[in-house]
Amino acid sequence: MCGIVGFVGAEQAAPILLDGLTRLEYRGYDSAGLAVYDPERGLQLTKAKGRLKALADLTNGGNSVPGTVGIGHTRWATHGEPSYANSHPHLSNSGRIAVVHNGIIENYLEIKEYLISQGVTFHSETDTEVVVQLLEYYYKGDIVDAAFKVLHRIEGSYALGIVCADQPDQLVAARKDSPLVLGYGEGCNFIASDVTALIKYTKTVSYMEDGELAVVTRDGIQVYNNLRQPIEKEKSIVDWDISDAEKGGYEHFMFKEIMEQPEVLRKAAFPRIKNGRVELEALSLTDDFIRQLSRICIVACGSSYHVGMVGKYILEGLLRKPVDVALASEFRYASPIIDENSLVIVISQSGETLDTMAALREAKRLGAKTLGIVNVVGSTIAKESDDVLYTWAGPEIAVATTKAYSSQLIVLGLLGVYFTQVLGTMPDDEREELLRQIQLLPSKMEEMLSYTEDIQYFASQFFNHESIFFIGRNLDYAMGLEGSLKLKEISYIHSEAYAAGELKHGTISLIVPGTLVVALATYDPLFDKAVSNIVEVKSRGATVLGLTTEGRESQMGKVADAVITIPETHPLLLPSLSVVPLQLFAYYVALQRGCDIDKPRNLAKSVTVE
Ligand code: AGP
Repeated sequence: MCGIVGFVGAEQAAPILLDGLTRLEYRGYDSAGLAVYDPERGLQLTKAKGRLKALADLTNGGNSVPGTVGIGHTRWATHGEPSYANSHPHLSNSGRIAVVHNGIIENYLEIKEYLISQGVTFHSETDTEVVVQLLEYYYKGDIVDAAFKVLHRIEGSYALGIVCADQPDQLVAARKDSPLVLGYGEGCNFIASDVTALIKYTKTVSYMEDGELAVVTRDGIQVYNNLRQPIEKEKSIVDWDISDAEKGGYEHFMFKEIMEQPEVLRKAAFPRIKNGRVELEALSLTDDFIRQLSRICIVACGSSYHVGMVGKYILEGLLRKPVDVALASEFRYASPIIDENSLVIVISQSGETLDTMAALREAKRLGAKTLGIVNVVGSTIAKESDDVLYTWAGPEIAVATTKAYSSQLIVLGLLGVYFTQVLGTMPDDEREELLRQIQLLPSKMEEMLSYTEDIQYFASQFFNHESIFFIGRNLDYAMGLEGSLKLKEISYIHSEAYAAGELKHGTISLIVPGTLVVALATYDPLFDKAVSNIVEVKSRGATVLGLTTEGRESQMGKVADAVITIPETHPLLLPSLSVVPLQLFAYYVALQRGCDIDKPRNLAKSVTVE
């Protein structure tokens, strides 16, 4: 996903823009650029393919680019290959207007054809260039007026940063479906794709809504709604520090975030457990609604979808109500059977995943109550859900999610327990024991994280495999999905997660001598079944890495080639512990393979395109 930073103030803009873009690197990109207004030379454009270092080297860390107003961008290509011409900022043909953009202009071809028919020349394959050339087409001396006209003409998703050489003391920003944050500094102001880029300079921010346009000067920010009416934006104070968004001595953000999980669980769960009951922040969900609930549908993407897969087992076990899990990208095209008696739970770390956002809007259109489980405060999904439960995991920088996954899982579990309190489907003593076990999870996880050498060793044995299977039953199957994705996305090894009982219906044909199978068998009621599946693959020559609870270690050791164990806990909490070795295995395998762990190829931290 692209990154945007803008600055207006008294200091030199370029070094600040570069610093902000550096903190957005985790979003994934393939080129970067700056546009800064130089009082002597006008708008100066500097762009570079590849990593931000190339741009920093080109501009001597920004010091060779004078000017106190500017915009910066890291590009994750959607239209047009990574190249100088396609990288942002894009300049109008007069050289007086520059634009950076995150999102997709869906009707760009139609507009491009029209502008070409009007004699406008284009220099890139991007959809974004249409915005800057259209701005110039409408520009009659007032860039804000031209911007409003453009916003009424373009369709699709956008976060825009605009700077015009004729009004060099201001930036213009606009958003629809792609996040854009306004930062309020001392004698300076900012725009950025997310708070991480600003937090070093200011913790006072506001979040732009769809259809809004902001005029940013060093003395203030004026926001307008889509009717051009000035509006007052609510300001909020970011509750974490820049150090949370830095590596803190770890080699990778991913490892740091794996290690942060015990504390993240404490932050997400403990404030919501009081006197043996779950107490959630104010929800609009009434007890009557919960009692008449006909269906719960969990909708998400990627690892957040995998949280839903685990959640199905947990919620159905607790509530005895049907719980479906849907891929967000499929949900809205599948004519979902949703109505006013349905609850749609959308799960998203970033709160900006377009597939999930679109599914949320479809669910609301169909009349469902919606609840978001989201990490990024003020994000679009958080704001558009009827209710939101924040996961309070702090900024997650690594593209491969770990701590956010764990916090989503525990929050979803707490929501389930909260529902049992309304439905009366769980005896008090059982609920109190489950909550007590939740409070023990962080220390058990710390115990696991204190010794990762065994997993590091297994990774050193298996990092050269070209295909790795994860098999399991029930909760273990759902966990296998996450273990497989973690491995794929950072080590680039092909992997598949399979319901262990399903393997014999076809896929077992792929098991040949030496195939690595990670067999999850933590869910005790099905342990014996899981063992028989291990024997099944072993008989075809597979190498089996077994994952089970400490109490089953010796039995697993009789059938598997190697065994990883997790501490005993409540059956419904097993995934919260078993995910840790799966994360570590993926991490160490990727480390052995020399992969770019925090910024895997082709991936972005939040996918704000369909
Ligand atoms: C997980 O490691 C991936 N980065 C990806 O699958 C991610 O979970 C997915 O894109 C959903 O993102 P979200 O939680 O921000 O909506």
